[in-house]
Amino acid sequence: MWGKREDMIVRDQSPFNAEPPAAVLAEGGVTALDAFYARNHGAFPDIPVEEWRLTVDGMVDNALELTYEELTTRFAAHLVVATLACAGNRRAELLKVRPIPGKDPWEHGAISTAEWTGARLADVLEGAGVHHDENLHVAFAAPDVAPEARPVQSYGSSISLRKALSAEVLLAWEMNGQPLPRVHGGPVRVVVPGYIGARSVKWVTSMTVQAFPSQNYFQALDYRILPPEADVDTVAPGEGIPLSSLPLNCDILTPTDGDRAAAGPLTIRGWALAGDGHDVARVDVSVDQGRTWRQATLEQPPSRWAWRMWSLTVDVDTGPLTVMARAWDDTGAVQPEFTASLWNPRGYGNNAYARIELTVM
Ligand code: MTE
Repeated sequence: MWGKREDMIVRDQSPFNAEPPAAVLAEGGVTALDAFYARNHGAFPDIPVEEWRLTVDGMVDNALELTYEELTTRFAAHLVVATLACAGNRRAELLKVRPIPGKDPWEHGAISTAEWTGARLADVLEGAGVHHDENLHVAFAAPDVAPEARPVQSYGSSISLRKALSAEVLLAWEMNGQPLPRVHGGPVRVVVPGYIGARSVKWVTSMTVQAFPSQNYFQALDYRILPPEADVDTVAPGEGIPLSSLPLNCDILTPTDGDRAAAGPLTIRGWALAGDGHDVARVDVSVDQGRTWRQATLEQPPSRWAWRMWSLTVDVDTGPLTVMARAWDDTGAVQPEFTASLWNPRGYGNNAYARIELTVM
């Protein structure tokens, strides 16, 4: 479906939501287009390249309306390798703590990495004569309608002008050297490296520079960390903590939950990612419930906006086995240990120690 591998774990047919099995991501680097996770709140718009337009307005001196031809020829093209991760990745582990009705049980695969090519958002904003004020926001809007939104509305989101002017943020029209596939927001999407995937608005058709964050459902109500006791049906817009930068996190990709492994040497492999502006400094692995830890070998990440793969070979004996991993960043911060302490009513931001259960034969 939608050009994806047959073994994708399809969470919903419509809107289409799918993640690859963990092992498919284990190679690291850039994810193949047919394996890249897909996260959608509505049906995909079908916008022919010749009909696509992007309006840029609000607190700018010269509002713009750009065609695809203008965007791709008037502004220099830049390539950024960046990991996109959904705020709901690893929600399945939160569901073991308490149920989260109406939300997909994403396991390990709502994260992927691509080589994005596009214009710097900063160049387009400067082209429109953006007002320079630290407190401004850039709100993006797209035409896909999300039936789950209250009230039903099309998708939108915003980022601070400070982030919007950073060199890594793109209006992308290519993914892994191919025209941006429709399922991933073609003809043009926003790519905000270092932020939750929800801010990388697909099929973007307008951006407005304004004094406040987007009032769209997906900024004002969803994609927020609510306190555990909050009732998602009655929370008011603006309640909770709006998600932007991804938290320090890691996961184990091979082996994976429920696998059987042979006694003897076992290679464990996964990814780690630090928050916006930080680097992964160390990853530790424990096979004795956290009593002792060994340092994994870190690979060079494909870019500073991409995941960093790690691996470690350990000797394992027959019986049930829990493997845990935790990442440290360049400030000495480490991931929280327990999923239970992170549970929140919408199931976002699980960055507890990675943990899988195996049987060693
Ligand atoms: N943009 C639009 N217009 N509509 C959407 O439903 N989903 C967001 C974001 N941009 C979404 C969107 C979410 S929640 C994520 S995680 C990423 O797109 C997923 O991007 P992908 O489907 O290319 O992996």
